[in-house]
Amino acid sequence: MPQHIAIIMDGNGRWAKKRGLPRSAGHVAGAKTFKSIARYCNKIGLKYLTVYAFSTENWKRPEDEVNAIMNLLRDYLKDAENFKDENIRVRFIGDRTPLAEDIKALMEKNENDSKNATGLTLYIAINYGGRDEIVKAVQKIVDSGVKAEEINEQLISNNLYTHGCPDPDFIIRPSGEYRLSNYLIWQSAYSEFWYSDVLWPDFTEKDLEKAINDFSNRNRRFGGI
Ligand code: FPP
Repeated sequence: MPQHIAIIMDGNGRWAKKRGLPRSAGHVAGAKTFKSIARYCNKIGLKYLTVYAFSTENWKRPEDEVNAIMNLLRDYLKDAENFKDENIRVRFIGDRTPLAEDIKALMEKNENDSKNATGLTLYIAINYGGRDEIVKAVQKIVDSGVKAEEINEQLISNNLYTHGCPDPDFIIRPSGEYRLSNYLIWQSAYSEFWYSDVLWPDFTEKDLEKAINDFSNRNRRFGGI
């Protein structure tokens, strides 16, 4: 059983297109899948789940699509009361600076309200980019006045958004794409990957179960033999 699963929730747009629907309808369906998969991960005792909701590059999308994703996020954050009884701890990773003030406030509220939960820790990546995260970590380290020879891997890890969270041991990308897309690039050094042609809105608990079964048969050597 992996300890930390990271998911790239890809294929929402194609799912909608196949049905003659606007791309935003794909994101609505994708948000539903996200909620049910997060609940399932908590139920099976997973410790950490990280989902890619919005990347630093996603601002390039048409304004109405960006707004649709932000509105879904807003709805989810307002609705997160639902998660309260489920003992899920919610955290956000990414650069919050350009986000709307009400979203930033809701993110903080969600983190505070769930901070003592002991079940799944759910990281939601919003305006997240792996390279941006590393640049910001380096800036913090330089600002702190650390000497060059004191910089090591642990120090860099400690200055990432994910500090304190174990690296993902398993990364899942549905929808037939075989790329990391700037996701957790530092943290994924030794992650196992799993790909599938299923589009994210169609991704089910069964697919996750299958992925986890595959993971349990992998032989992880971490550079050793
Ligand atoms: C990638 O599919 C998906 C996104 C960029 C957005 C993901 C957002 C959600 C699942 C909903 C909001 C999340 C929360 C946490 C409430 P794509 O649009 O690139 O699909 P395509 O490759 O088929 O075009």
